[in-house]
Amino acid sequence: GLPTRVRIHEVGPRDGLQNEKALVPAPVKAEFIHRLAEAGLTTIEATSFVHPKWVPQLADAEELMPLIDDVDARLPVLVPNERGLDRALALGAREIAVFASATESFAKANLNRTVDGALEMFEPVVTKAKDAGAAVRGYLSMCFGDPWEGPVPISQTVSVSRRLMDMGCDEISLGDTIGVATPGHVRELLDTLNEAGVADGRLAVHFHDTYGQALANTLAALEHGVTTVDASAGGLGGCPYAKSATGNLATEDLVWMLDGLGIETGVDIGRLTATSVWMARHLGRPSPSRTVRALSQK
Ligand code: HMG
Ligand code: MG
Repeated sequence: GLPTRVRIHEVGPRDGLQNEKALVPAPVKAEFIHRLAEAGLTTIEATSFVHPKWVPQLADAEELMPLIDDVDARLPVLVPNERGLDRALALGAREIAVFASATESFAKANLNRTVDGALEMFEPVVTKAKDAGAAVRGYLSMCFGDPWEGPVPISQTVSVSRRLMDMGCDEISLGDTIGVATPGHVRELLDTLNEAGVADGRLAVHFHDTYGQALANTLAALEHGVTTVDASAGGLGGCPYAKSATGNLATEDLVWMLDGLGIETGVDIGRLTATSVWMARHLGRPSPSRTVRALSQK
């Protein structure tokens, strides 16, 4: 059956903005995060403490954090290594995420490491974060398909998921980084993870909407016990010049579906849509979310 309540893990300020070429000023990001919280989102991924040259858009993390310290929501941040963790903890981060890959190609492209090398890099980060009382999410990218390697075997995804849980992650977010998954694949992966007892009840899903499958995939995940769903306000994300990745599942599209199913999220879709329309004006192009377009044309 379906859950009665879903926790939305909003990734707009991080995953949504990280590929934007034009730098969004920190005060605009801060206003975005405040507005998302006011719309009822309780978990808002704020930024990343990565190498500034790797993600220039999020190089202002130190400037942003003090501007959002009054936000009434969980504000996780991405951290790849101890250097990043130290920066995040110094600014009062209470929740972090490490980000592993199910494939060697993406581990190399995203972290300049092998899959094993990345996990070794995360191990002291997870230990130190937990010692500091911070919650730790483990992202796993390329769970379904990879732009260089094609379809990813279920066993490969299960194996890295297990290693993230063994390391001490509180939750695993299964990433369809390039949006190629379809519901049958989602069911098969979740059945396998559930049967193997990996991350029981602590799985989240992270769908990108490249092929328009993100909502169908989400419904399949909800039918398999998942209650935490990642989404990006307005469907932000991806780069108009990148060939294989577009934005995440739009939070408005998700809330529209969940509202219709009678599943609680605590999100006010009107306020959220107004926020995405405001952000789209800043970015200079309309939101790709069908729900944002429909509701804002009313
Ligand atoms: P590297 O080049 O191997 O770094 O990159 P290094 O460890 O060799 O260090 C080189 C220099 O970088 C050193 O400085 C470090 O101090 C500095 P130097 O001594 O030469 O002056 N450095 C840092 N500076 C600031 N903050 C740091 C930091 N770390 C090292 N944290 C590294 C390795 C992991 C740093 C790099 O690859 C990196 O930053 N990658 C981040 C990539 C990223 O953010 N990708 C997007 C997020 S993942 C995603 O979007 C997928 C997801 O949405 C799920 C899905 O859709 O699948 C989560
Ligand atoms: Mg992503």
